Amino acid sequence: MTLPKVFVARQIFQEALDKLATVSNVEVWEHESPPSKKILLEKVANVDGILSLLTDSIDRELMESAPNLRAISQIAVGYENIDVKEATLRGIPVGYTPDVLNGTTADMTFALMMAASRKLIDGVYAVRDGRWKTWHPLHFLGQDIYGSTLGIIGMGRIGMEMAKRARGFDMNIIYYDVNRRTQDEEETYNMSHMPLDTVLQESDFVSIHVNLTPETYHFISDRELTLMKPTAVLVNAARGPVVDPEALYKALTTEQIMAAALDVTEPEPIPHNHPLVNLNNCIIVPHIASASTTTRLRMSTMAVENLMAGLAGIRMPNCVNPEVYTK
Ligand code: DGY
Repeated sequence: MTLPKVFVARQIFQEALDKLATVSNVEVWEHESPPSKKILLEKVANVDGILSLLTDSIDRELMESAPNLRAISQIAVGYENIDVKEATLRGIPVGYTPDVLNGTTADMTFALMMAASRKLIDGVYAVRDGRWKTWHPLHFLGQDIYGSTLGIIGMGRIGMEMAKRARGFDMNIIYYDVNRRTQDEEETYNMSHMPLDTVLQESDFVSIHVNLTPETYHFISDRELTLMKPTAVLVNAARGPVVDPEALYKALTTEQIMAAALDVTEPEPIPHNHPLVNLNNCIIVPHIASASTTTRLRMSTMAVENLMAGLAGIRMPNCVNPEVYTK
């Protein structure tokens, strides 16, 4: 029996690949960087399934070049790189990896928030560079986290994990989302739904947890940053383009806000000579919020299970477009 062919667009955990290899002929892209568009199109020409990453554009052109394609499985909760509408038209299920990364991502968002507000990175470098000469009552002054107000923009699964953690820090939690949480949830987490502008005006920390859509592109720009407190910290572990980088640079250099901490940037990877990179009040890490061993293994396994289900013609356990099964 000929096994279906799959292209895995980057090295993932070997145990997940071994599982996939029991039901398919697997080709893995072994390089660190993503395949170019041209190579990707060549690689998928005869495949039945593809395991993709955020950095691979899975658009109509790709689907046209892959006439046998019957399953797309993304190793991420976000999937803005995939033309889901086109996949649905073609009856191709698209898998993703929700939930398993919620806690890990919220942990990292908290770490970023704390590092930025307590000048952690600057402190580390002060010691390394020999700038630390004496304990001084007025050096390295930051903002308290406990007892402050956390504004969460986007109260989805990761936003809720932020709220859980914030309760432990005695934070006052306010949030903005187009969908309001239930009264029960609001009471349990002691959080209040407010208009966007109020969240921006009243928060000591603004943490962004929305998907990237045409509506959320540069959602945080000049106007929104102007509303924030001069002592506020902006944290983005959602998607880079949700924050307008030029507006952020302006806000940080004119001390309109105190600091920013970014797991994601526009562009990504951000060039090391980008104006935001060397600002003392801006911490940037390389899109690693879900990068714990446990979570990345779970994501690998989940992506493989989705792909295997897709190849077998069975409903994917985590499918972005389940309507393909009702056609
Ligand atoms: C995702 O899953 O969408 C993250 O950005 C990477 O873990």
